[in-house]
Amino acid sequence: MSLIDEARAVRENAYAPYSRFKVGAALRAGSGAVFRGCNVENVAYPEGTCAEAGAIAAMIAAGETELTELAVIADSPTPVSPCGGCRQKLAEFGRHDVKVTLATTDGQRFETTIGALLPGVFSTEHMNRV
Ligand code: THU
Repeated sequence: MSLIDEARAVRENAYAPYSRFKVGAALRAGSGAVFRGCNVENVAYPEGTCAEAGAIAAMIAAGETELTELAVIADSPTPVSPCGGCRQKLAEFGRHDVKVTLATTDGQRFETTIGALLPGVFSTEHMNRV
């Protein structure tokens, strides 16, 4: 199954009763294994988690730390754009040239990279004086 189809499938399980905006994410890890995540909202709204964060958590829980490709899908007018926090989370585990495919359920695709999503990423180099 393609990464987009994996993301499309897990999106069905999203828990989004407040926004009604379901998102699915699927990533390929260093071993080739695929990990999926969906958004999980909460009545205390800021406690919700994004699909991308869920996929990263699944990868880490399985003992992997390298993200090599990502796909995200939602039912949006244009391909869904990862939030700022998720861009930083993606940069933690994927190189700047990692391919990211953003998709809509009606078939639009936008290809980008982790580096393009977050210019000026905060990195360990900023802490070199500590
Ligand atoms: N959301 C994601 O899961 N990923 C994105 O890339 C954009 C936004 C979720 C968070 C929240 O549950 C809902 O979409 C509306 O913001």
